[in-house]
Amino acid sequence: MAIAVLKLIFSILFLSSFIIPGYNCQEFSRKSSKKEFGLKREKLSHLHFYFHDILSGRNPTAVQVASAAMTNTSSTLFGAVIMIDDPLTVGPSMTSKLVGRAQGIYASADLYEVGLLMVLNFAFVEGKYNGSTLSVLGRNNVFSAVREMPIVGGSGLFRYARGYAQAKTHQFNLQTGDAIVEYNVYVFHY
Ligand SMILES: *[C@@H]1O[C@H](CO)[C@@H](O)[C@H](O)[C@H]1NC(C)=O
Ligand SMILES: *[C@@H]1O[C@H](CO)[C@@H](O)[C@H](O)[C@H]1NC(C)=O
Repeated sequence: MAIAVLKLIFSILFLSSFIIPGYNCQEFSRKSSKKEFGLKREKLSHLHFYFHDILSGRNPTAVQVASAAMTNTSSTLFGAVIMIDDPLTVGPSMTSKLVGRAQGIYASADLYEVGLLMVLNFAFVEGKYNGSTLSVLGRNNVFSAVREMPIVGGSGLFRYARGYAQAKTHQFNLQTGDAIVEYNVYVFHY
């Protein structure tokens, strides 16, 4: 079974080499042009959605997967690592339209205040963005009113993406840790 899957992956990798524009199997690198790749004018998009980080209940979307030995003595939970697959919706209500999911990791990376290292992908499912992703790598000092994190890349419609995301806590439950966070994302892409 595992071997069949590996064979499939290798054949996909191999076949894909024939569909990359301008690829020649005898060369390692070559100059290309935007035109050849169908890249026209760069545009700026603004995306707006709500991020639901659910730690409590029977169906959490954020799960702690590691912690430092010192975690109980650290007021910032330094070293805690949380894996998420958080729904992104168009409105603040969980029942509003799903536009994607935030998949990845956030970890407590600041000894002195709550500052998270965010390493995640926004995987969109809405309309023409279905299947496209944006990658976030940044610092999230969650108790600040507005936090800014770089968008370092993307895939699909967001190839060559770069920009930033601004996060603003919409609702935070101190008891459970559940949070709803409003995101405004500004990206240049083609
Ligand atoms: C840390 O937490 C664990 C489990 O909750 C507990 O057993 C341990 O005694 C705590 N350590 C310290 C130093 O408080
Ligand atoms: C997004 O794409 C997937 C895979 O192609 C498809 O199964 C799904 O129905 C699409 N979702 C929406 C909301 O269009």
